[in-house]
Amino acid sequence: MLVTGKEILDKAHKENYAVGAFNVNNMEILQAVIAAAEETQSPVIIQTSEGAIKYAGIDYLSAMVHLAAKKASVPVALHLDHGTTYETLIKCIRNGWTSVMFDGSHFPLPENIAKTKEIVKIAHACGVSVEAELGRLGGIEDNISVDEKDARLTSPDEAVEFVNGTGVDYLAIAIGTAHGKYKGEPKLDFERLQTIKGLLNMPIVLHGASGVPEDSIIKSTKLGVNKINIDTDVRVAFTEGVKSVVTTSDEFDPRKICGPARDNMKKVVMEKMIMFGCSGKA
Ligand code: G3H
Ligand code: 13P
Ligand code: ZN
Repeated sequence: MLVTGKEILDKAHKENYAVGAFNVNNMEILQAVIAAAEETQSPVIIQTSEGAIKYAGIDYLSAMVHLAAKKASVPVALHLDHGTTYETLIKCIRNGWTSVMFDGSHFPLPENIAKTKEIVKIAHACGVSVEAELGRLGGIEDNISVDEKDARLTSPDEAVEFVNGTGVDYLAIAIGTAHGKYKGEPKLDFERLQTIKGLLNMPIVLHGASGVPEDSIIKSTKLGVNKINIDTDVRVAFTEGVKSVVTTSDEFDPRKICGPARDNMKKVVMEKMIMFGCSGKA
């Protein structure tokens, strides 16, 4: 069933576990994530970036995820990941997304607050939940590229000011993770996470979680992370699945190439759900 992000994450916050938010760009990824959620009985957040919407089309994504959610035996939220323009945010709200992220993290604090507050007003009037980001992660996304030197960890005082000034439902914080593949092992600032969670007492979001060691992920969930974003690890699982066929045979039937990729992604997503502590929480 389709639910809001807030419904899923308020429960995770209260019961102290994290829910996976997986980036989806096509049917196979969506089916893999939903199958993993059903098999582990996990609530799940399907998220689409602006790049995914450009690639697949907002109407296709909306129709596919609404169908998948309707058929699913677990709660499913449809979330916009790293929304940067009012145009995309409003389009997603109008097309049935139940959660949107406004990423104004590159703006100075007062501007980020003013813009996010406006989005919250509109989204909440439509029954849609809102995520925002404070601080800067390293790494690359379609629309934003942040050098490691420009990455900035979230200030606890600014987090309080931001949440009070905007009314967001959950907050993404920077504690040392980065988008994409890591060069070395990421070192997370758990003390900062604990301080921010204690001050805010609301669902906290961790971006750039692919490649973060299992013990760090488990510690983060214990300290109050409730939404964990995964894209890269699923991309890798897809590609490995495709390669396992195309480098070992002359196969040219897309179903026989994408099928193993889908199975591989499902396996990785199930492992994440168990690691995050959300299996059995549907
Ligand atoms: O954090 C960003 C996600 O990995 C989405 O990446 O913008 O290339 O779709 P994308
Ligand atoms: P990864 O690149 O670590 O999978 O991060 C994904 C993400 O944060 C999407 O918003
Ligand atoms: Zn992200």
